[in-house]
Amino acid sequence: MKVFLNKIDLSHHIDALKAEGNTIGFVPTMGALHNGHVSLVNRGLRDNQIVVVSIFINPTQFDNPEDLTNYPRTIDADIELLNTVSNSKIIVYTPSNEDIYGDQVVSESFHFEGLEHEMEGAFRKGHFDGVGTIVKRLFEIVKPDVAYFGEKDFQQLQIIKKMVELHQIPVKVVGCSIYRAKDGLAMSSRNARLTAVHRDVAPFIYKTINTAKAKFGTESAEVVTEWVSEQFKAQSLLELEYFVIADVATLKPIQIKSSNNTYRAFIAVYAGDIRLIDNIALN
Ligand code: PAJ
Repeated sequence: MKVFLNKIDLSHHIDALKAEGNTIGFVPTMGALHNGHVSLVNRGLRDNQIVVVSIFINPTQFDNPEDLTNYPRTIDADIELLNTVSNSKIIVYTPSNEDIYGDQVVSESFHFEGLEHEMEGAFRKGHFDGVGTIVKRLFEIVKPDVAYFGEKDFQQLQIIKKMVELHQIPVKVVGCSIYRAKDGLAMSSRNARLTAVHRDVAPFIYKTINTAKAKFGTESAEVVTEWVSEQFKAQSLLELEYFVIADVATLKPIQIKSSNNTYRAFIAVYAGDIRLIDNIALN
């Protein structure tokens, strides 16, 4: 499998592949790859001849320096895993900070029509400026036909779609469903850092939002939100940061339930010092 450390070499290689008529799918990641990432890569391989996977822990999207320091780094295992998926059709790009940022490791400032102020944007200051900066740069380097993002980070997916629209970036953005462990826990690179006790209890998050979905059929958003909050008060190993039922288009919390709108429930929870997020479609 070809592994590039440098954007210029990567660009030349991709230009040559495009000139031969290949379409390029792109899966940006921060590594510590798991089957959730692999599901995106496989989707990309179904639609394109070549899939570029970037592995880059983007410093500008971390609001918490400890989270950045502790983020799992498993590049050899990542490349080995991708090799089992396809040796010839996957290209890995694993740049240095310098290759991406030069000597200025800073974010650009973005407006995403307010999507950036909700939920993750409210609790992780500057996060979506960092995400917008890196994804825009990676799109410029890789120039993919299609890019794949997980619904696991649904707000990120909506923001990238908005960025592509507002900045007229010629990339098709495709959302992919959430890949879960057998017990329901959404796969995440951060799961590897859970203690055994927290890993055992973590499926409670999905179980609770799944029941919240059933309740939302007959109850108001307020009642459902209160119910979720009560469940977490009784679960001492997990600390609820937020539970929000929001409109998928605006990501604003629901005001009055309307059958014309599409809603999703979003949750962020601390399991010890590991922050986990999940979400579920409600209607
Ligand atoms: P990372 O957390 O590594 O995730 C890379 C991609 O995999 C994202 O699109 C994410 O939504 C998707 N993903 C993660 N877990 C998933 C799961 N269980 N099921 C389906 N998809 C899943 O998200 C990022 O990296 C970064 O913010 C990035 C976009 C790379 C920018 O730095």
